[in-house]
Amino acid sequence: MIKKYVSGTPINTDAIINQKKYENHSLASLSYFNFSTNKDTLTLSYPLSKEDAIYGLGEANRGINKRGYRYSSFCSDDPNHTEEKESLYGAHNFIIVDGLKTFGVFVDCPSKVEFDIGYTEYDKLTISCVSDVAIYIINGNSCLDIVSQFREIIGQSYIPPRWAFGYQQCRWSYMSAEEIRNVVKKHREINIPLDAVYMDIDYMERYKDFTINNDTFPDFENFVKEMQSSNIHLVPIIDAGVKIEEGYDIYEEGVKDNHFCKDAQGNDFVAAVWPGYTHFPDFLNSTTRKWFGHKYKFLIDKGIDGFWNDMNEPAIFHSANGIENAINLLRDIDTKRITPYEEDEVEKLFKLKDALGNLSNQTSDYESFYHNMDGKTIRHDKVHNLYGYNMTRAAGEAFDEIEPNKRLLLFSRSSYIGMHRYGGIWTGDNHSWWSHILLSIKMMPSLNMCGFMYVGSDIGGFGCNTSRDLLLRWLAFGIFTPLMRNHSALGTRQQEVYQFENTEEFKNVIDIRYSLIPYLYSEYVKSALNNSMYFRPLAFDYPEDEIARDVEDQLMLGEGLMITPVYTQNAKRRYVYLPEDMLYIRFKGYDKKEVKVLEKGHHSIDVALDEVPLFVKKNHILLLTKPEMSTADLNYDKFDLYCYNPDTSSVTYKLFNDDGYSKDYMNPENFNTLQIEKKDGNIEIKAATPVHLNMNIYE
Ligand code: GLC
Repeated sequence: MIKKYVSGTPINTDAIINQKKYENHSLASLSYFNFSTNKDTLTLSYPLSKEDAIYGLGEANRGINKRGYRYSSFCSDDPNHTEEKESLYGAHNFIIVDGLKTFGVFVDCPSKVEFDIGYTEYDKLTISCVSDVAIYIINGNSCLDIVSQFREIIGQSYIPPRWAFGYQQCRWSYMSAEEIRNVVKKHREINIPLDAVYMDIDYMERYKDFTINNDTFPDFENFVKEMQSSNIHLVPIIDAGVKIEEGYDIYEEGVKDNHFCKDAQGNDFVAAVWPGYTHFPDFLNSTTRKWFGHKYKFLIDKGIDGFWNDMNEPAIFHSANGIENAINLLRDIDTKRITPYEEDEVEKLFKLKDALGNLSNQTSDYESFYHNMDGKTIRHDKVHNLYGYNMTRAAGEAFDEIEPNKRLLLFSRSSYIGMHRYGGIWTGDNHSWWSHILLSIKMMPSLNMCGFMYVGSDIGGFGCNTSRDLLLRWLAFGIFTPLMRNHSALGTRQQEVYQFENTEEFKNVIDIRYSLIPYLYSEYVKSALNNSMYFRPLAFDYPEDEIARDVEDQLMLGEGLMITPVYTQNAKRRYVYLPEDMLYIRFKGYDKKEVKVLEKGHHSIDVALDEVPLFVKKNHILLLTKPEMSTADLNYDKFDLYCYNPDTSSVTYKLFNDDGYSKDYMNPENFNTLQIEKKDGNIEIKAATPVHLNMNIYE
């Protein structure tokens, strides 16, 4: 049951589809929360009981259970995801309070929203935001039920093409077509599967969107074809800011047709990002969305079928105001004077240091430009969290027109709930730190709660230097995330798998991904179509199990799997909790597995660097295919079937198996129902469409 409460006149975010369905109730009738308003700020508070756990907030720091810290929904370009950070790139204001009472809360608000989840007072949840807001309270009989009701009202999650489940290689940047050819060649030489290579900002001419550097990427169209002939998809980056440069068509059209955000004087707002000074397309305006979205056609016409949208918080390196302020502070410092400083001189120095250190993403900059939301002028900070969402929506809506029956890959750095209908996200500029493997594990179910299903982190870590063992362990988790992309920053150690010794071990891990693709893809599509979660905390599946409720480093995946990644340096084994008896598959490469039943309870399992543990729930069917060099080469009709079937006589599994790119998901022909039946000691398998199955049934 969902109830909508409204205060003032909220800005429409389009997060909820079919809003008319919900009657507006006044906040006064909101029973769970106390509320107060002070000027323009609304504060809701809820007394937490000892056992309450709080889930959600999508892309946010710290635990799966968010209790004990505070979070601020304000899309931020901050590459240092240390534990104290309260804001990351997304704003996903959906939480579930689970304990004495269990209910969901969605705060549909496009500006900053603060969640104090037992931080100031351990027994109090406080939510503060502007007073013009819509709040949805969702009651249900379990966390899973609440998530599914919420997902229904925000609309179906984006489904990428099947090739986007393959292994993808990125780097800031591969500087030329030649370098990319080499990346592909090196993977193929050591028999490591690969489906995509990314083109970071240097493929462009001076970082101008929708241009190609013809010197380094000559004859681009044929290069795309050449890559496609080896089953490699090229994925270019598109940045939010448009370079100010006379003669650049996008800039000139944008100025002429008023597509850019304005400053207080009505001039096109200027701030610096990668290309230097840029203007920011007003994605909150539907005409601009259409204009910008159709620009992707330039690359689609050249055969490109995937994009990543970046710098769309929007990231601002500095504005002219910020620089001017710092210069003034500098002028004010007497450089001739040597120690001892007067106190005021020290203060001036600190002010200068702060001004220089804080040039980027300044609140004052976000307060100094304006959107034209289809006729209404709105200052940016009031709708800040909708910017990246609407950039990606611009692309997604245009793709529907440009390629009406083809799914393209699309994901974004910044996001708000609603964007999940148009694309996925990656979790931004993490670091090559062990703690960031764990952070990524914890984010996955929270993202799924908020509709973001096509998700993944930069495998190996983006910032600072990776190490071989870290990359292997990260890959062993990444083989389960829908987006499986290795990415690293300029100036860091090269981290393509072929840079390291004994690449057989990398192959052992990545091959397992490919052997799982038909199954993972099927689980993904079904979760998207059924509004269910691909990744779940154990607490959601085993709410009565006190121990399971505390587990944050294992995840349930799809209908019947549990994963237990290793995320600590030098570990040769890890502790695993089984909430019930399960089938344990210890992958030592695709064709070397140990399979046995493990009992409910506590276990220590050995996990060598190139091994992957996987657990299958009772009476569930897992299908594995033979790994190949790309998703296009995989056999989708011949599987090794694994099932732990100790008691029931019949087990069914619905396999989703389509052409991998069209939008006709619901066509019944895409679903093949497999059924195992036990009769008089004999096992029979039926498949609606015949498939070759090599059965491994454990009793
Ligand atoms: C941003 C992105 C990163 C990209 C870099 C250069 O930091 O988050 O993924 O490589 O910009 O484009």
